[in-house]
Amino acid sequence: MAPKKTIMKIYSSEITPEQTYYAQSQSRRQFFKTAGLVASGALLSACAPSTPSTVDPAPTAIKPEKPVTAGQTDELGDAITQYDAISNYNNFYEFTTDKQGVAQMSAGFVSSPWKVQVGGLVNNPKTFDIDDLRKIAPIERIYRMRCVEAWSMVIPWSGFTLSNLLKQVDPKSEAKYVRFETLLDSNRFPGQRDRSFPWPYTEGLRLDEAMHDLTLLATGIYGKPLLPQNGAPIRLVVPWKYGFKSIKSIVKIDLVAEQPTSLWMKSGPSEYGFYSNVNPEVSHPRWSQSSERRIGEMARRRTLLFNGYADQVASLYAGMDLRKNY
Ligand code: MTE
Repeated sequence: MAPKKTIMKIYSSEITPEQTYYAQSQSRRQFFKTAGLVASGALLSACAPSTPSTVDPAPTAIKPEKPVTAGQTDELGDAITQYDAISNYNNFYEFTTDKQGVAQMSAGFVSSPWKVQVGGLVNNPKTFDIDDLRKIAPIERIYRMRCVEAWSMVIPWSGFTLSNLLKQVDPKSEAKYVRFETLLDSNRFPGQRDRSFPWPYTEGLRLDEAMHDLTLLATGIYGKPLLPQNGAPIRLVVPWKYGFKSIKSIVKIDLVAEQPTSLWMKSGPSEYGFYSNVNPEVSHPRWSQSSERRIGEMARRRTLLFNGYADQVASLYAGMDLRKNY
């Protein structure tokens, strides 16, 4: 995303299902050597964990509709990404811009107790405790996540629909957008000492996007509580938008009348717009968005409009010029 000269390193052994890794490792090493190492002239950092993170042994408060099992797929038949890859290949700039460093840097991040303040243009402003949020209509959903950097994963989330939370605070009729904010605390987020970013991380959605049934607040992955690197204890998931819209470690949600300005809109106004819907036809100024690298796979795959959720969300943008409203 913002920094412009970083090399993307890929250590495939860390992100490939074990059973296929050994068979493919030779050719894959060659592949990454010859083709996969340089991110389209830009972006952040690296993938590959040096230290595998520990899985939180605490029992989850979430009761998934269906437990996730290995080999499960999304509705398009795409296999879910390995837990190790999901938890060791991260973008979380409050810790570090190095994807392989986030797991290690965030180990020990304390996400309990945790409160989320929901207010602004609502009739019932309320501060929720994370334990209460976990009880809101828990569900599990398998979604594709497409990063703006042109890599993707398939992730089994647990959580609840944002609409279920917003209904509890009763938005006023003047509320047109929702603004989200990550915790601001440079003692706990060392990356926030880097003053080149306009912290705190903020994001926004139009109210109808926020109320859409696909839009989740996630508190878990693979039926386990979110690890710090994935945005513990609670993050947004909007599967038809680029991954940066899915703001992590949320402490504040406000209903507002004006379109909010996100951290990325402030840091790179010519590169990151408000909508950020996945669109293979609208290139990032520095690279194409027409294809993506699915973590754990060798060949690139075609990127789908709205990340494959067009039948559910395209109507939200009827009549809008998606090239201008990127
Ligand atoms: N939220 C916060 N607060 N800080 C971040 O740096 N990175 C975003 C998004 N949410 C980010 C964030 C980006 S660029 C992506 S692609 C996803 O988180 C990555 O989520 P993951 O690390 O769980 O895969």
